[in-house]
Amino acid sequence: GAGPLILGVETSCDETGVGIVRGRTLLANAVASSMDEHVRYGGVVPEVASRAHLEAFAPTVQRALGEAGVSLRDLDGIAVTAGPGLSGALMVGVAAAKSLAQGLNVPVYGVNHLVAHVAVDLLDEACTLDAEPTVALLVSGGHTEILVLRDVAQDVELLGATIDDAAGEAFDKTARLLGLPYPGGPSISAAAMGTYSDDGQPGRRDALRFPRGLSRADDLRPERGHRYNFSFSGLKTAVARRLEQAERDGEELRLADVAASFEEAVVDVLTAKAVLACRDLGIPRLLLGGGVAANRRLRELLAERCEEAGIALRVPPLPLCTDNGAMIAALGAELVRRGQSPSAQDFGAISSLD
Ligand code: KG4
Ligand code: ZN
Repeated sequence: GAGPLILGVETSCDETGVGIVRGRTLLANAVASSMDEHVRYGGVVPEVASRAHLEAFAPTVQRALGEAGVSLRDLDGIAVTAGPGLSGALMVGVAAAKSLAQGLNVPVYGVNHLVAHVAVDLLDEACTLDAEPTVALLVSGGHTEILVLRDVAQDVELLGATIDDAAGEAFDKTARLLGLPYPGGPSISAAAMGTYSDDGQPGRRDALRFPRGLSRADDLRPERGHRYNFSFSGLKTAVARRLEQAERDGEELRLADVAASFEEAVVDVLTAKAVLACRDLGIPRLLLGGGVAANRRLRELLAERCEEAGIALRVPPLPLCTDNGAMIAALGAELVRRGQSPSAQDFGAISSLD
């Protein structure tokens, strides 16, 4: 392939990601995760994450270079996540990327993590991102947003986001409540499919009625400002209350039913609002990103509803949906291609970027 050789660095949360692209060709995507170190805390611990990035950075760069079959001297530029994310974790990546760029005498680009989640689609040949606008649904343990990208390099608008817990965080916290292992997404999905039940039977998604946050007619009125926002903390509380009630009444709730009904509540509201945004804006393209994209029911319901609404759904391969360096490199390469000037050497980590 042609185009600039760009190395991308991602350290906004618990993944140390280093990716290498040449133009729109993916050459390497090396990721080291500190997830194992956070397991016993039931969530990402910022200081633990920062230290892990520091330790993992150099080896992950080496691994990416090996995978791509290039050397540092070949690089035309470096891109790094400037935010949003955990500030200590971001600073490790930003400092490392800047020193590397300075040592190699190549430009460095500080990029927005959320935009990079969408820009990763540029690595797919069928991508139309540079010609047509797209709506994006980004769902992970750290963020939950609906964005509209009219132009990948310049025109990005945050339509809505969670006002409390991220969707992945809701899975993680509810899993804890149900006594299921961290990370909660995969374990709740497994429970919903009957993995932890004696009878192995899948749960019924309509067994229990859990709330769909910010979805009442009133919330959806455009002037209320919550049309594209999410809220998941009430859902977690509703599950807790329901478990307590069952305990008091001596009622036997099936774990599979609770898990399936919870999962359905999350996935229902995510997909409904993403499709709503596409319809409102008249943009028949939707891109899914973030670690929760691994959720089977989310993919299924989203595909169903997009098809009904005539929306072209794009779902990158899972290693490109979760946090990674390739998406940062892809956005960096696009900026270079467009002749955008690099960031000044004094840019810092920006923990919230909206
Ligand atoms: O993007 P990601 O790998 O990391 C960050 O959040 O930074 O996303 C991890 C999140 C966790 O909250 C995890 O529980 C959730 O994604 N997740 C899932 C599934 N797999 C991972 N949530 C629902 N269903 C899944 N299958
Ligand atoms: Zn992310």
